[in-house]
Amino acid sequence: MSKISIAIDGPAAAGKSTVAKIIAEKLSYIYIDTGAMYRAITYKALQVNCELTDESALNDLLAQTKIDLLPGEKGQLVFLDGQEVTNEIRSAEVTNQVSIVAKHRLIREEMVKRQQQFGANGGVVMDGRDIGTHVLPHAEIKVFLLASVQERAERRYQENLEKGFPADLEMLIKEIAARDKLDSEREVAPLKKAEDAVEIDTTSLSIQEVVEKILVLVEERIGSY
Ligand code: CDP
Ligand code: CDP
Repeated sequence: MSKISIAIDGPAAAGKSTVAKIIAEKLSYIYIDTGAMYRAITYKALQVNCELTDESALNDLLAQTKIDLLPGEKGQLVFLDGQEVTNEIRSAEVTNQVSIVAKHRLIREEMVKRQQQFGANGGVVMDGRDIGTHVLPHAEIKVFLLASVQERAERRYQENLEKGFPADLEMLIKEIAARDKLDSEREVAPLKKAEDAVEIDTTSLSIQEVVEKILVLVEERIGSY
């Protein structure tokens, strides 16, 4: 059976990584969380005190940086220069600054190159902001997931509670709205639905319902799996 590429884009907490992981597992495809790569270089830049607005310095740093995404028992593991940083890259500090790094053209060009290599053989579910528009423009299936800011902030609030780090809902709403704005308004490869992407508003859908909608698209494309 032919192995296709599936691009899943959308704003923060729209459910991209959760559904992408499930779809990849069902199809025995590889799953690539491209946001983790932007987070990893942001984390490193903060560690080495590299100025996040200095595109050229960040680009030099990225050139000397190895980022590996490997499957683990509970999902994707992220390695930065051989060291696991799966949890570290999810810190509030990284989350609130990653969009500053992700807006630089040189950084995006290098990341897109690396991401295209990961997806070169098909059989991939990749999630991010520009997968359908730039990384995998020929993906057989493109999905754009949406949900209201309130709903997305509540999802992150719930996640934080479960991890034992209660957050302030109003603060989460502000942070998500600010990141949406930076990601959607940047000049290079902004967060945008590809013309040929299927839009799914997940505001009142369960994870299972979203997965089922995407699996219908898969079946239409490759038959039963
Ligand atoms: O998990 P969450 O949706 O909060 O974010 P993420 O997917 O880990 O992405 C973190 C940030 O990386 C985004 O807010 C974007 O600034 C950037 N990003 C991007 O510019 N392009 C991508 N393909 C993926 C992420
Ligand atoms: O990857 P992205 O930032 O788009 O979102 P995520 O990390 O996959 O999902 C954010 C949270 O929302 C997770 O805790 C999911 O379990 C939850 N979620 C949900 O409650 N309902 C959905 N339809 C999708 C995700």
